[in-house]
Order: sequence, then C-alpha cells, then structure tokens
Amino acid sequence: MSEISTDELLTIAVRVARQGAVTARRMRDEAIGDVETKSTDTDVVTAADKAVERQVIEALLAERPGDGVLGEEYGDSATVAPGAVRWILDPIDGTVNYLYGLPQYAVSLAAEVGGAVVAGVVINAATGDEWTATRGGGAWRAGRRLAGSARTTLDQSLVATGFGYDARRREHQGAVLARLITRVRDIRRLGAAALDLCLTAEGSLDAYFEKGLNLWDHAAGGLIAEEAGLVVGGLSGAPAGNEMLVAAPPALFGALHDVLVELDAAGGP
Ligand code: IPD
Repeated sequence: MSEISTDELLTIAVRVARQGAVTARRMRDEAIGDVETKSTDTDVVTAADKAVERQVIEALLAERPGDGVLGEEYGDSATVAPGAVRWILDPIDGTVNYLYGLPQYAVSLAAEVGGAVVAGVVINAATGDEWTATRGGGAWRAGRRLAGSARTTLDQSLVATGFGYDARRREHQGAVLARLITRVRDIRRLGAAALDLCLTAEGSLDAYFEKGLNLWDHAAGGLIAEEAGLVVGGLSGAPAGNEMLVAAPPALFGALHDVLVELDAAGGP
C-alpha cells in the first residue's frame, strides 16, 4: 500500500494542477497557435494541451519519481508497482471551448492507488473555480461541502451530457437525446466532462450522463461526484466507464438509468 495519505496526494494534485491551469489560461490569453487534429478533424489538440501535460507530469515526477502517469496526450507510463500511485491527467478538458475562448475548460488530475481513485481535483482554468475530493473525505468547493441536487423527479431535472467526436457515434447520441429531451426539464451540453461532473456534484446540474468517456475525462470528477453522495455508474450494474457513465443523486439515478436503457444510450458505434 502507498505510504502517502490521500490528503497529501490531494495537496500535491492541487498545487500541480493550479500551475497547469495558470499555463493554460496564459496560453489562451496569448492566443493559441499550433492547432492540430487528433482522431477526427473536430478533435482539436492545441499546443496548450501538450504544454500543460508536460508541465504537470514533470512536476509530479520531480516530486514523486516512482509514480505512474496516465495522460491524455502522453499515454500510459510503465505499469506501476502494486500499491503505487498512478496519476490520471486531462491537461485541458473542454478543448473545443478552449479553442473558442468559452470559459468552460479545466485541468483534471486524479491520484489512483490499487485501481481506485483516492484523490482528485478539477480546476476551471478560465475562472479559477476549483473542486476537490478525497475518498471518504467528501467533495468540496471553496470550503463548502458538496451534496448534489435535492431534485427527485426526472421530468423536473436539468440533465447534462456530451458527445463523442465521431460522426456515427453522434448520430446515435443525437437520436437518444431527441427522445430524452421530452422526459426532462432540459438538456445542457457544456463541453467539458470533468466540469459537468463537478457541477452535478454541487447541484448546479441535477444529473449527467455520457457514452464514450476516457478515464482521464472522469477520474477526478467521478470521485468528486461520488463523494458528494451521487451514484456514479454504468447501465445494468456495470461500473462507470467508456460504455456509459451516469452521475445522479440516489433519488434520480434509477429513473435516469431506466430511460437510458430504454433508449439504448450505451448502444450504437
Ligand atoms: C471532451 C469533453 C467533452 C465530452 C467529450 C470529451 P476533451 O474532452 O469532455 O465535453 O463530451 O466526450 O472527449 O477532448 O475536451 O479533453
């Protein structure tokens, strides 16, 4: 088992993620260059993603050279020893917002030990808003403990989601949404999964779901949502993951889950 406490891991994560957020914001203010595309031509990877990732990983490994790292641009480092720490980083979640200057992009950093995320921080780099959690220690924003929404009925709920970059997947996701939107108060698509999870954790959104997320999109935000008392899972008892992630207060999870199953939200390409 790792010698370091979850509080100490969170302290490191917050310090390093704040530095990354400053870099992201500065590069945005200076105007971003070097726009490349990744899997499809709408998946934009900027020089800033790479710069923030490099900075965060160098800072983590300078402090804790034995740890592993999984980063969106960097990939996975060699397998970590049992009980060692693996850091999971999305240097800029909400890359398209970043590109357009919309203030919804975040640095997301989580510490995982023994396959479980134990500490996480999400920082909206545009606004400085910061959400944190440690496993068993609650979820927090600006000194306030988070508890999710008190809403109990799906038809009164504001539900956020997101879309993949692949057009065929989007076709299916759009069809699901066309039906779901008649069963909820309204839908939001803010463009950064980590922030969707944090806003659901604090109750600014009632619930969130998405198909196709990568671990770096939801590692920190998922812990923050869980620690705010939300149920975070997949469909039909599966764990949250690439196939589906649903985050909702216990009173809403079942109803949203059942509609998503009915609409085959985890299906399609
Ligand atoms: C994306 C955002 C978006 C979500 C996509 C993610 P990126 O992450 O979180 O909201 O809908 O599924 O890939 O590419 O901006 O890091």
